Amino acid sequence: MSSIEQETGKSPLWHGRFASGPSEKALAFETSIHIDSRMAADDIAGSVAHAGMLGKCGIITGEDADKIVSSLKKIASELENGTLTIDSNAEDIHSFIEGVLTDRLGDVGRKVHTGRSRNDQIALDERLYLRRVLPALGSSIMTLVDTLVRIAKVHLDTLMPGYTHLQRAQPVTLAHHLCAWCWALVRDKGRLDDALTRIDVMPLGSGALAGSGLPLDRQAVAAELGFSAITDNSLDAVSDRDYCLETVSALSILMTHLSRFCEEIVIWSTEEFKFIELSEAWSTGSSIMPQKKNPDFAELIRGRTGRVYGNLIALLTMMKGLPLSYNRDLQEDKESLFSALDISSSCLSVFTDMIATATWNGKRMEACCSGGHANATDLADYLVKKGLPFRTAHAVAARVVRECIDSGLTDIRSLPFDRLQSHSELLEKDIYDILDPRAGVTVRDLPGGPNPQRVQVQIDKLTALVHGSL
Ligand code: ARG
Repeated sequence: MSSIEQETGKSPLWHGRFASGPSEKALAFETSIHIDSRMAADDIAGSVAHAGMLGKCGIITGEDADKIVSSLKKIASELENGTLTIDSNAEDIHSFIEGVLTDRLGDVGRKVHTGRSRNDQIALDERLYLRRVLPALGSSIMTLVDTLVRIAKVHLDTLMPGYTHLQRAQPVTLAHHLCAWCWALVRDKGRLDDALTRIDVMPLGSGALAGSGLPLDRQAVAAELGFSAITDNSLDAVSDRDYCLETVSALSILMTHLSRFCEEIVIWSTEEFKFIELSEAWSTGSSIMPQKKNPDFAELIRGRTGRVYGNLIALLTMMKGLPLSYNRDLQEDKESLFSALDISSSCLSVFTDMIATATWNGKRMEACCSGGHANATDLADYLVKKGLPFRTAHAVAARVVRECIDSGLTDIRSLPFDRLQSHSELLEKDIYDILDPRAGVTVRDLPGGPNPQRVQVQIDKLTALVHGSL
C-alpha cells in the first residue's frame, strides 16, 4: 500500500498488517456495502455522538472533535441531497464514511475510530436503524387496523357465516370478523413495540469484544443518541443479534396474519363464495381466459410470507453455532433483516390499499347464513333454556338436522311445526324466530361476542388504540 492510498482511505481499514492483502475476488466476496449502505445516516449519527464524547472526555482535542462532527454532518447532508454518492467499491458503510472523512480532514479524520471497533459500531448502527424504521412499520399496522375498523363500522349488522373447518358453523357479522383480524394486528404492533424496548440499549464502548482502555463516557453517548441504557457486557454487546431475531420473528407472525387474511380474500373472491369483489386497481387478468379477474395481490402477499419465514430461519441458523464474541457470520444478518422489513412493509401497504378499495357483498353473505344448519346450536340452546340438559338438547337438535337432511331441506325453519315438535315437546312456535340468523347473532351477547352492541365496544376500543398510536 502506498501512503497516498492510506491517506485517501481507498484500502481496507485493516490493511496495515498485510504486505499484499487479499485478492480482489476475496474482497468482492466479503464486501457488504451494497447491503449496509442504507444505514449511512445511522452510522454517521453514531460517529457524531462518539466523536463529540471523545472531545468532551479529552481523548481528542475539542477542536478536532468539532472538525469531525461538522465534517460528518456535511457528509450526511451531501448524501441526503445526492451531491455525495456511496462508493460501491468500499468494503462497508463504516469504511466509506471514515474514508470520506479522512479524505477531507487528513489525520483529524483518522481519530474518529478511537476507542471503537466496527464490531460495536455495527451493533449500534443496526439498533439505530431499527429504532428509526420500526415505529413507521408499527404505524402502518395501525393504519391497516384503522382501515378495517372503518369497514367494520358500516357492517355491524351485516350477517355472515362464521366458519370452523371452513364449514358453516354459526352466524357472525362482517364487523365481528374484521375486528378479529384487527386484534391480531394490534398484537403484532405490540410485539414490535416490545422489541423496541430491548433495541433501546447502546452498545458503543464494547470495542471489538473487551471494551476499551480509554476513558470513554458510554453514558454520555447513550444520552446523546437518546438511548435509555447502555449494554451491560461487552462480549454480549458485540455478539447479540436478538434484536434481529425478535424483529424478524415479530414480522413473521405479522406476515402469518396477512397471509391467512389473504387466503380468506382468495376464497371469498371465488364465484362459489362471492363475498368480496376486489377493485380493478388491485386485480389482474389472464392472458388466455378473457373472463378472469384474479386476486393476485392477495396471493403474492401469501407467497411472500414464506420469504419472511425464510429470513427468520436464515438468521436463527446463522446464530446457532456462534461462540462468543463477534464472528464474521454476523455480517449476514442484514440481508435477512432488511429483506424481512422490506417485504413486510410493502405487503402491509398493498394489503391496506387492496382491502380499502374492495366491495363487500353483504347480501350474499347474509344469504349464506341460511342453509347449512348454522342455527342448530340455537335450537339446542333454546331447549337448554327450557331445562333440558345440554347433551340431550344437542341430541334433539342433531335429530332435527338429520330429518332435514333426509327430507332434502337446507334450513330447520322449513320443517313444519308438527314434525319439529315430534322431536321435543319443549319446542314451541317461537323457535322459528329464534332460528333466524339475525336472532342468532343478537343472542350472542357476551363480551367479545358478535352481538352488534358488543362489536361496537370492540370498535370503540380499537379506534382509541388507533388514535393513541397514529
Ligand atoms: N460489516 C461488518 C458486519 O456487518 C462490520 C464488522 C466487521 N468486523 C470485523 N471484525 N470484520 O458485521
